[in-house]
Amino acid sequence: MSDFEMTRTLDEHAAESALRADVLHGLTRTPKVLPPKWFYDARGSELFEEITRLPEYYPTRAEREILLERAQEIASASGARTLVELGSGSSEKTRHLIEAMPALDTYIPVDVSESALAGAAGKLLEEHPGLRVHALLADFTRAMRLPESPGPRLVVFLGGTIGNLLPPERAQFLASVREMLSPGDTLLIGTDLVKDEAVLVAAYDDAQGVTAEFNKNVLAVIDRELGADFHTADFTHVAVWNREREWIEMRLRARSDAVVKIRALDLVVPFAAGEEILTEVSAKFRQEGVRRELAAAGLELTQWWTDAAGRFALSLSVAGREAG
Ligand code: SAH
Ligand code: TRP
Repeated sequence: MSDFEMTRTLDEHAAESALRADVLHGLTRTPKVLPPKWFYDARGSELFEEITRLPEYYPTRAEREILLERAQEIASASGARTLVELGSGSSEKTRHLIEAMPALDTYIPVDVSESALAGAAGKLLEEHPGLRVHALLADFTRAMRLPESPGPRLVVFLGGTIGNLLPPERAQFLASVREMLSPGDTLLIGTDLVKDEAVLVAAYDDAQGVTAEFNKNVLAVIDRELGADFHTADFTHVAVWNREREWIEMRLRARSDAVVKIRALDLVVPFAAGEEILTEVSAKFRQEGVRRELAAAGLELTQWWTDAAGRFALSLSVAGREAG
């Protein structure tokens, strides 16, 4: 049986000190914030997969529809022999692309979730025993070195995950992706689009409460990793549409006054009743904005595809000609 390689650029020690720094910084400022990458321990990755199957969570189905429709076009426009996927998760939708790329030599999934990487790589190899799979356990917001593989490369970033970065982080991220691209390489990005507020809010606040559980999982991660005593039952899940910024804000709201101890930080964090932690934004886009942000990073949008209902978009871009 074929096997996959895994390169770990995050050891447990580095991950724990990064978590400490983020929690110390985020929970001692006003308003309180936590960065979204800490949702994704094994349980968080599992819960996210459950979210993708919820009736209210349309982005996964809309993006899959576009991928199924355009896989051939994407494959031939890129001519890629290496597929790099940032925030690959279960790689569930990516298999449609892989199936359309018979000349593909190497697939490089990049994620912070080791359990998601291992599950996805194992499953893909069963289906494509000839494919070289080299998983990279890494933070895509940091500089990363990709394993050696033949060009051209297609870099994909699906799921609307780019919307979970704040605008300055997005600009920096796109600039660093631009640096990864050689002439002839292509970039495919999935972006959720601005739409009716009720549809958006429902996608992040489902009737079964799976999204609420996912959001609260970050507290369970902090309890386990840093010896904190958050009680998830003391917090409620809140999803609101920010009309000015055109993003959904996910928050956790304290039900009553509370004091949380975080042993590993020797820290006591007070919460007033109703006080919130901002745990994630999920920005929604318009074509002009995507084109502008890509251009600012030296990337040129060459194709724009949406699903039939116009809910979600995939954009293909290439490294633009250098200004100087
Ligand atoms: N691409 C998949 C999963 C999207 S969920 C899909 O479209 O369904 C976001 C994924 O990005 C998760 O698997 C999470 O573990 C990963 N992730 C989040 N922040 C990350 C970071 N900073 N670096 C690497 N991976 C990250
Ligand atoms: N990338 C996903 C999105 O923005 C992540 C996500 C979906 C998410 N539902 C969530 C993050 C709920 C936090 C809470 O759509």
